[in-house]
Amino acid sequence: MENILFRNVSSNDLGRIAEIECECYPPEECGSLDTLSHRQAHAPDLFLGAYLVNSPENYELVGFVCSTLSPSQSLTLDSMANHVSGGSSVCVYSVNVAPAHRRKGIATAMLREYISRVSAMGTYDRMLLITHEELRPLYECVGFEFVGPSSVQLGSKPWYEMRKILARSDTGKCRAYSGQLEWYSGKYRCRFYYD
Ligand SMILES: CC(C)(COP(=O)(O)OP(=O)(O)OC[C@H]1O[C@@H](n2cnc3c(N)ncnc32)[C@H](O)[C@@H]1OP(=O)(O)O)[C@@H](O)C(=O)NCCC(=O)NCCS
Repeated sequence: MENILFRNVSSNDLGRIAEIECECYPPEECGSLDTLSHRQAHAPDLFLGAYLVNSPENYELVGFVCSTLSPSQSLTLDSMANHVSGGSSVCVYSVNVAPAHRRKGIATAMLREYISRVSAMGTYDRMLLITHEELRPLYECVGFEFVGPSSVQLGSKPWYEMRKILARSDTGKCRAYSGQLEWYSGKYRCRFYYD
């Protein structure tokens, strides 16, 4: 049985992360190793990896999602370039799954896991991302709402902004947990383990 484990990436993963990024986007949209390293260094708790568990000692990175923080209520080119510590918006970039592992439900489960973890932090007001039209159903399926055309111009296709409102919590962090995906009837399904 194939298993997928979610955990925050380490700096050792950045080489493979940059490779996956290049496999996922055309050159004009692809984040550089420097950009990805900057996000991992400044917002490590917002940089989640999906690992295929080949054996207890062998975890293969097959996808990731990362973000920066911004005080802006809308996602801009500036928020893509800069991480503003204490910002109330989690600006999501690079929702990526390596080509060989697509259409098995990994991105859906990874986004659900990501939203759960970030929501549990209780410190942010909203999660924002931009997408092309065809991926709108993927994000709506995990709870994002369609906002409208984005001001961001990158590459030749138009971008649309999507948003998920998050609840702040006065009670501090929720319990930490990790999610694990199991292969079942042609798709992955998620099981959660609480610490
Ligand atoms: C987009 C991406 C992350 C999806 O990853 P994935 O693990 O294959 O996604 P899932 O298996 O969870 O897909 C769930 C549903 O989303 C939709 N979906 C996924 N990929 C899609 C695509 N390329 N085009 C249209 N719809 C898609 C489908 O409805 C799919 O359900 P189905 O397989 O039953 O038809 C992956 O294709 C990728 O890394 N692409 C390149 C990078 C990218 O464009 N990222 C998004 C930036 S906004």
